[in-house]
Amino acid sequence: MKVLVVGSGGREHALAWKVKQSPIVTEVFIAPGNPGTATVGTNVPIKVTEIDKLADFAQTNGITLTLVGPEIPLTLGISDAFKARGLACFGPSKAASKLEASKVEMKEFLRRHNIPTAAFKVFNKAEDAHAYIDEVDGPLVVKSDGLAAGKGVTVAKNAAEAHDAVTRVMEKFEFGREAGAQVVIEEVLKGEEISVFALCDGRNAVLLDYAQDHKQLKDGDEGPMTGGMGAFSPVPGLLSPRDEDDLVRRVVFPTMAGLHKEGRPYVGVLFVGLMITDSGLKVLEYNVRFGDPECQTLMMRLDSDLVELCLACVNGKLDQMTVAWKPVTAICVTLASGGYPADTLNNQAITGLDQAAALGATVFHAGTTDRDGTIVTSGGRVLSVCARGGSLDAVRTVAYAATDAIRYEGKQFRRDIGKRREARKAR
Ligand code: AMP
Ligand code: GLY
Repeated sequence: MKVLVVGSGGREHALAWKVKQSPIVTEVFIAPGNPGTATVGTNVPIKVTEIDKLADFAQTNGITLTLVGPEIPLTLGISDAFKARGLACFGPSKAASKLEASKVEMKEFLRRHNIPTAAFKVFNKAEDAHAYIDEVDGPLVVKSDGLAAGKGVTVAKNAAEAHDAVTRVMEKFEFGREAGAQVVIEEVLKGEEISVFALCDGRNAVLLDYAQDHKQLKDGDEGPMTGGMGAFSPVPGLLSPRDEDDLVRRVVFPTMAGLHKEGRPYVGVLFVGLMITDSGLKVLEYNVRFGDPECQTLMMRLDSDLVELCLACVNGKLDQMTVAWKPVTAICVTLASGGYPADTLNNQAITGLDQAAALGATVFHAGTTDRDGTIVTSGGRVLSVCARGGSLDAVRTVAYAATDAIRYEGKQFRRDIGKRREARKAR
């Protein structure tokens, strides 16, 4: 069968790479893809926002399954458009994708269904938000309502930082007018974060193994928020048996049931960002897709056939499936471009990719372009350097040797991906 992967990041390269390994797949197409995906399948020059063109392509080319990587096409309704044409699309409907598209909707959904989350207030006037910040006069989290590529959230240490965030979101419209029309202001939660992914078929959900992201730009969780600077999986010992029970009973099940009850059953992969606090698990956010770079580590470890699993979700048959994992640890180190996340230093020639592969790493492409046979930087996150093996130490060694072998002007990365576990052991 033929499979179409929609997107062009490291996540989509990893998805296409895994899809290609399925014995039932004959051909993989990636729209629009990148120089990395061109090595596993055929890139198709259609943008992720061109929903009708994507559906036309799927119909004309006999695509059996379309897998959507990023949130934008989902929030634009790609899943509904494909369904209307009788095409199988792995990803939630536009209505269910609202969980990611609007922080206000997400928080109100959590409240409506009694799912644990940080206490919050919603403001649609900057002056009211400023007045509230003065009243609290302490640390607060400010979140722009709409999509902001993971950058619309400020964890403010004090009132001045919170005021500044409100100004940027609601007065300077740094994330656009729509995203800045409302803000969520919430309490700061303390604890460790974990990304949980569940495959969902509308009624049933199957949890995937855990992965942990490192969102800040610099070592030790310093610096600005990014899309994600690295991940590892599994994350043993992070959740207590009680947390695991809570995760299913108080978070995943009520989310599925709540969406079903509201007439927008969830089909696809649900990503729940959680904070493990002293008073239990709290939902930080939902995303309606795989995380990037978490996905890369999960694809390196998934033993089951991804295509069979996605088809089971689309066909409502997830209860007949089990998910098997390779008994390995996987790591992904993000290599970003100079200036990221504020800016991107593009057009820098990248060398050392063959050396990285020879060292045993699997390198997924993200913001790269093939310029007359030379791979150059062309985005914020440039490459995902991944490795899998017997232990976290072993995979760190391989991934960082490969990271050092890859060279381009402005290269930024974190040296401490996967180190949190050691820090935890030491506590
Ligand atoms: P979000 O997009 O809502 O997940 O926020 C992005 C990041 O901001 C999260 O991954 C956390 O690191 C941080 N964050 C969000 N909400 C809170 C909160 N209430 N307390 C502490 N940190 C938070
Ligand atoms: N790595 C976090 C995300 O994909 O949103």
